[in-house]
Order: sequence, then structure tokens, then C-alpha cells
Amino acid sequence: MKAIIYRRYGPINEVVEEVDSYPRACISLTGNQVLIKIVAASLSQRDYKLMQGKLALTLFSGPKVRKGGKIPGCSVSGIVTAVGNKVKSLRQGDEVIGMLPDGGGLAEFAAANEKCFVLKPPNLTHMYSASLSYCGVAAFQALRYQADLQPNERILILNGSGGLGSLAVQIAKCMKAIVTATTSKNEKMLDHIGADFVFNYTQGPWWEEFQGSEFDVILNCGDGDSHCWLHCPLVLKPKTGRYITFVPDEDNKVTIKAYVSNMLWRKVRTPFSSLPRYKTCKVEINHRNLLSIAKLAKKGRLKPVVDASSPFAFSENGAKNMLLKLGAKEASGKLVMAIDPVLAQKISPSVKPKHCISGKKDVKGSSSPAQGRAFASPTSTGSHNSSSSTLFSPISSTDERRANAGLKMGFNKISNSVREGTRRFSGKIRAKIRRKPDGEMINAPQF
Ligand SMILES: NC(=O)c1ccc[n+]([C@@H]2O[C@H](COP(=O)([O-])OP(=O)(O)OC[C@H]3O[C@@H](n4cnc5c(N)ncnc54)[C@H](OP(=O)(O)O)[C@@H]3O)[C@@H](O)[C@H]2O)c1
Repeated sequence: MKAIIYRRYGPINEVVEEVDSYPRACISLTGNQVLIKIVAASLSQRDYKLMQGKLALTLFSGPKVRKGGKIPGCSVSGIVTAVGNKVKSLRQGDEVIGMLPDGGGLAEFAAANEKCFVLKPPNLTHMYSASLSYCGVAAFQALRYQADLQPNERILILNGSGGLGSLAVQIAKCMKAIVTATTSKNEKMLDHIGADFVFNYTQGPWWEEFQGSEFDVILNCGDGDSHCWLHCPLVLKPKTGRYITFVPDEDNKVTIKAYVSNMLWRKVRTPFSSLPRYKTCKVEINHRNLLSIAKLAKKGRLKPVVDASSPFAFSENGAKNMLLKLGAKEASGKLVMAIDPVLAQKISPSVKPKHCISGKKDVKGSSSPAQGRAFASPTSTGSHNSSSSTLFSPISSTDERRANAGLKMGFNKISNSVREGTRRFSGKIRAKIRRKPDGEMINAPQF
């Protein structure tokens, strides 16, 4: 089968390779495994760092890449093509999203345990649903199990606009928390996905801006500043405040020192000190969590955010462009590759009209759906360099609206949609900011 692989760790431009003869996954299909035809796949920062051979990660995955090469990509959306004889929850032809435990997303087929997959939300195209599973489950686990986030608690999400942060913001809203998120350039997007307050971190350090604010939780989704944790007592509630991080606070470096001296030592030390509890997150495949994510997306409460440069072409160049963009940390939301560019943009024929999310309903104050959000034209497939006019043509049919229930970034027309009662932090004006009335908040999901 065709796949994007790497045979050794190293710089992206040197190690990424396209092959046509990678052994097809179904050769080793066992009793409770399913084989899927992958339609779209997304990459995460972990793939990028691992391919580069970051020492701390290779300690877990092995000092050398396995013989024959490794395929990156953990988060996929596709169609079940074969099932093992013990599989109960899925059958051939089902459209699914899933997390692959050991990568394998940038390929035509993948096989994994049935528990790694759940039915795809029917209101989303494969392109949008491919971005959901890995980061969705990571954000869900951090907020639910590590942070134990409660309704009306106040949470500060650092780097709220990345692939992980954009989902964390929405899940925290679903849990009825009061969300403040940081960004450098994506204030409109954060406002659109429901953040109550947005702070632009280029205006100064957040710990100075929010000094004395007494947040219940800080979720660090990518601010690699080594001072993050040391400063968090300034803004967290004393005693009950929690600091949860996905990254070692060492200027985003994945080094042994960062893990040992920052993450492990802080975890050990904080229960015996007056500092807030320091918790780290590592995403684990969990079928129930994956189901919760799919359910929220199906109800329109979780809108995948996909960077405007997606979908990337299923080729060596497409993969290199995607990984370099990922490494530059410039993506707003997730980066997605269309393995099958036609199917990636199609919506399930069985979807009923009630799943349609109209622009009017989604964006208050916009006069037409096209004004409220930017949508990808179903014809603009497979090309990384599609012009923005093709990518963001107005929606013209119900199918297209359904197909684009996810949110594609790179738009300019959303500024009229600032919700009543929500204002952005800017400089020192936070004192006047009010929340949306409770009635307008997204209801808590039934987990
Ligand atoms: N442990 C786990 O299980 C796990 C799971 C998922 C992710 N992660 C980690 O979480 C981190 C974020 O992942 P992601 O997928 O969200 O990354 P991402 O999508 O690549 O993040 C891109 C965003 O990062 C922001 N950014 C860039 N430089 C920044 C800085 N100096 N300070 C704050 N924000 C900055 C930018 O936002 P603005 O343009 O708004 O500034 C950009 O949009 C990664 O380090 C990843 O390895 C860990």
C-alpha cells in the first residue's frame, strides 16, 4: 500500500519518504482488530518531535526506527473494510474515527483493536473528524481526570488556539467552566469557539496580567516558557489551584533534563510544598473518552478547528509541508492530510437534515452563513496550495453546510460575531468584563 514513512530519525526534509509497497496492515489482522481504509489523517506535535529523534521521546519508542520504516499519524478518520471474527461494535462499511496506538495514519490502510475506533460523527466530513480523536481525548482526559474541572470553575488555557488548545477550550465550556485562553493572533477564532475571555500574550506575560485573579485551573497546552509553573502561584487559587501541563516548561524542548528536572521533580515535590499541585498529562487510548468526544461533535458542541492550509496532499511533498508547518508552531487548529481527497470532503449520505448547523445559528449577529464562518468548498481537495478564494467559497447547499460543520481557520469575516457580554482582554481593562448569561452557555454533556 502507499504510505508516508521515515526509516531513521533526522531533519524532516531528509527522512520523509513516500513508498508504494509498504506491507498492507491486514496481513496481521487478529480477532478483535478492524482494518480501515484511511480517508483523512492528522498529525500532532508528537509525530514531529519523534521524527526528529528527540531523545526523551525515543527513549520510549526505541533508539532506532523499526526495520522497514515507521508511518507517522495517530489520529484518523476512515471506513471499516474488514473486521476480525471477535469484533462486536463495528462492521464493514462503518465510517469511523480513531486513535492508532503506534502511528500509521499517513497510509491507505491501518489495522488496530476495535476499541481504538468509534463511529464518525455523521455531521462532519472525514477531513474535520480526522482532527478530533488524539487531541480531543488528550484535552478531555486532562480536564476531567487531571484537573477535575467543575462547573463555574475558572480555567486559564495557555495556547488555546493550537490543535489541542482549541478542543480544550470547547470541552471546558461543555463542562460549564469559565474559560480564559491565550493566543497571539487567533482571538476571533477563540471567541467563536466559546472562550469567555481571550488574552493576547504578545501584550505581556499572562502572570502579570492576571496577578491575583485566583484561577482554579491552569491548563498549559503549549506555552513552553520555563517560568510558567514558577509564576502560576500568582494567578492560581491558593491551596486548591491546579496546574496541568502537556509540555515540559523548558522553552518547548523535549529533553531528558526538561522531563526529569521539571516534570518529574516538580510532581514529586509539590505535595510537600506550598506550591500548587503540578500535574502532567499523557494521552491514553480510551474507548469511552473517544465516544464522549464523538458524541459532543455529533451534537455540534465540539467543532474541530482545522488550519486553512489543510488538506495536505498525500505525497512526500504534502507530508513535508505539513510537518514543517507543524514544527513552525504556526498552525491554527489541526493540520490534516486527505488520503482520499474526494471522500475526505464528502458527508455521509445517511445524515438527516437535523444535523445541519446553519451559520445563523452558530454565529450570532451574522446575516448569512457565509458571513459567519468560512467554509471549504468540497471541490478544493488534495492541494496544499489551494487559494483562499477556492477554500472559502460561500456555502451553497445543505450538504455542504453539513459537510463543514467543523470550523476552518483563515477567515476574516467573523468580527461581527462577538457575542454579547463577552469582551476580550486588552491591556488592563479586564475589570469590566462580564460573562455570557448562564442561559446562553453550552449545556454540560452527558458523559
Ligand atoms: N502529552 C500529551 O499526551 C500531548 C497530547 C497532545 C499534545 N501535546 C503537546 O501539547 C503541545 C501543543 O500541541 P498542539 O497540537 O496544540 O500544537 P500546535 O497546534 O502546533 O500549536 C500551534 C499554536 O501554538 C501557539 N504558539 C506558538 N508559539 C507559542 C508560544 N511561545 N507560547 C504559546 N503559544 C505558542 C500558536 O498559537 P497563537 O498563534 O495563538 O500564538 C500556534 O497556533 C505540544 O507541545 C504537544 O507536544 C501533548
